[in-house]
Amino acid sequence: MSDRTTEAPTRHARSLRQPYQQYHQRSVPAEDAELTHTGPGTPCGEYMRRFWQPVAMSSELKDMPLPVRLLGEDLVLFRTGDGRVGLLERHCSHRGTSLEFGRLEQNGLRCCYHGWLYDVDGTILETPGEANPKALCGRVFHGAYPLHEFQGLIFAYMGPPEKKPAFPHFDIFDLPGDRLVPYAINTPCNWLQVHENAVDPAHGVFLHTIISGTQFSTQFAKVPLMEFHEEPGGMFCVSTRRVDDRVWVRINDALLPNLMRFAYAWEEAEQVLLFGRGSGTKWTVPLDDTNCRTIGWRHFGELSDPRKMGNEAEVGLETVDFMGQTADRPYDERQRVPGDFDAQVSQRPIAIHAREHLVASDGGVTLLRRLLRQAVRDLAAGRDTTAVDVLSSGVVSTLGGDTVVIAPPQPGVDDKVLMQDVTARVLAILTDPANGAGEARRKRVQERLAKTFPGLGRIA
Ligand code: FES
Ligand SMILES: [Fe+2]
Repeated sequence: MSDRTTEAPTRHARSLRQPYQQYHQRSVPAEDAELTHTGPGTPCGEYMRRFWQPVAMSSELKDMPLPVRLLGEDLVLFRTGDGRVGLLERHCSHRGTSLEFGRLEQNGLRCCYHGWLYDVDGTILETPGEANPKALCGRVFHGAYPLHEFQGLIFAYMGPPEKKPAFPHFDIFDLPGDRLVPYAINTPCNWLQVHENAVDPAHGVFLHTIISGTQFSTQFAKVPLMEFHEEPGGMFCVSTRRVDDRVWVRINDALLPNLMRFAYAWEEAEQVLLFGRGSGTKWTVPLDDTNCRTIGWRHFGELSDPRKMGNEAEVGLETVDFMGQTADRPYDERQRVPGDFDAQVSQRPIAIHAREHLVASDGGVTLLRRLLRQAVRDLAAGRDTTAVDVLSSGVVSTLGGDTVVIAPPQPGVDDKVLMQDVTARVLAILTDPANGAGEARRKRVQERLAKTFPGLGRIA
């Protein structure tokens, strides 16, 4: 299976092997629609609709309805006077006025034009201008999607009602002393190129360190050993670096279709750390094909921010305590010190896979696309998605986070081989289902790591 759209061997292809040939390379091939298009009825859009997707932060719902665009659909999000949340088709069932101009009432949202009142599930409660209210009330339903509000985020399920999965429970929901702080950032480009960022460890070396100066960890300047593996429900990427007598194994999870658990942004590997649980949990949700929203939680607490580098005051709507995630800097500064936003958005509104030259360090991108493509095709062929089952079955074990162990270089041993061996042993422990789930698993993993790699350090 190819991860690029097929392009016949053309003059363009031949011209790639010669200098000064842009004349023959000007035409831009079509985007990889199978993975980048998510509107109603598209294969990837149908796939994404099988999962709970975060729409907005609870704090965004104030005293007015909020027009939202999600997977190419125009909707309106609101909270009733009695505290319930609703997500309705934006255009009124009467004559199409946008419900963003509606009035929030105790038990629903009332259209401004002729006063029809809607409940959160789409029930038409009132048609006040009508002599016979029973003609429509309770007989016709306005379009609505179910919602689930959790830890300051509002999630929607936009798939077939009969396929609605249980809301997932991730292991990181139960970390002692950990606070989940919501944030949401809209980005004007396709969702996939933003999502791919976290399975691309090489960009941490260059964009975040060598090119732009240290934006996170000074240790990112070293090109790590990289590995990319499948896990139940998705994949993870591993970056291993040596720091003095220590070996640092860093993991990001990418669970299908669009969830990331990312490791600690500011880890310096100065001391032992056994199964640190990382800085964030985020979804990259398509708003439409050329706009997406990064939405999730930054984690704050002893376990997720041991160096106390985070700044909770900077986490919220259109802001997070990582530099370079928005357009909110002067253009000149963004050119001189670019961040993720600049790198991702400038890949074009929708990155053109057929124009890429993927290399070995893009192994995470390649694997992610392959898994996503297979899942999209499986669903289109009538096979339900195993990733949904993984997320719906009990506590979901994630791997994202950092482990730093004492493993000095050994005379006569190739240090790359040694680091690969350490990585393999760490992964064997982290991925062992015998560890159980949730907090019991975290403790068990820490015990086993401490036994395998003796040495003093942070054991939370
Ligand atoms: S258009 Fe909404 S009530 Fe008439
Ligand atoms: Fe990044």
